[in-house]
Amino acid sequence: MTGPIIDKDKCTLCRKCVDICPKEILSLQNNEIVIVQDGCILCSHCYCVCKFDAIRFNELKKPAFSFGHTALIQDEIKPFDIISFIHSRRSVRRFKADTVSTEILHDLIESAVLAPSASNCQRWQFVVINGREKVLMLAEDIKNFFIKLNTIAENPLLRYVSMVFAGKKILHYYKNNYESVKLGLERAKEGKDLLFHGAPCIIIVHSDMEGSMPVEDGQYAAYNIALVAHSMGLGTCFIGYASATLNSAHVIKEKLHILKHNRVHAVLALGYPDIKFVKNSLRKDYEVKFL
Ligand SMILES: Cc1cc2nc3c(=O)[nH]c(=O)nc-3n(C[C@H](O)[C@H](O)[C@H](O)COP(=O)(O)O)c2cc1C
Ligand code: SF4
Ligand code: SF4
Repeated sequence: MTGPIIDKDKCTLCRKCVDICPKEILSLQNNEIVIVQDGCILCSHCYCVCKFDAIRFNELKKPAFSFGHTALIQDEIKPFDIISFIHSRRSVRRFKADTVSTEILHDLIESAVLAPSASNCQRWQFVVINGREKVLMLAEDIKNFFIKLNTIAENPLLRYVSMVFAGKKILHYYKNNYESVKLGLERAKEGKDLLFHGAPCIIIVHSDMEGSMPVEDGQYAAYNIALVAHSMGLGTCFIGYASATLNSAHVIKEKLHILKHNRVHAVLALGYPDIKFVKNSLRKDYEVKFL
């Protein structure tokens, strides 16, 4: 059965694991902790409250980083520091040519999977494209996709015919994206990379759609990457155009070893920033209701 394995010799019957289990799977019966029902989501909350190291799992591992394992820090970091750090992250659109080490890439992926996931599904998968030449190959495929799309969108007749097989998608595209893509394609002819902004590395977060909320899970994982990369002096930019293309073009997905039915949740351009921000960002006003 999936779930925690209790070491009876170490267990003091403190009940902490029983009380915390969100699925009410554990119970103290006849002087031992027992699993009373199926449905463990492998969240490891029981493991995390056991002071006596009496719980282990066959299915789980400790995330490990190039510096070893993480420490349990809950009180020592000042909120001001965290907020300031989050605030100082910006989308980076100018990268140095320097490559990113595989060690750092490994640490970023390990950080990604520390994100929360609905029902603890953790179905995220990753593709790392490391090296500018490989990034350019993907950019070329995406460029060709957009050349075809713009050819359809700029033709009024084709735009309306497309409604038969694509609903209003092409009309929306024409209204919202056509002009900026046209500009990007023109710039590409001049050797400018408006898609990946010259990044030497790309990280793609994708998954099947089997979990409870796979899109959100994938996006939280991607944001972890963005934040941890920032802490390492790296820059990232979410490339929505690339995600959208991959989700429409199965041939490109196939080249990246992403299964046809998987959905791409985020494409992150990654590299060392060739720009230094001297101020934190400004934001639009927003609505919030405190009830
Ligand atoms: C889902 C998503 C898609 C995005 N797509 C792109 C993109 O295709 N190209 C790009 O240069 N920036 C893209 N961005 C970056 C946004 O433009 C940027 O986050 C926003 O302007 C705020 O700036 P900041 O990230 O520096 O705070 C995307 C961001 C998100 C969250
Ligand atoms: S938290 Fe650990 S020591 Fe306490 S009852 Fe559970 S397994 Fe036993
Ligand atoms: S891993 Fe989570 S769901 Fe499973 S027994 Fe422990 S606390 Fe309960």
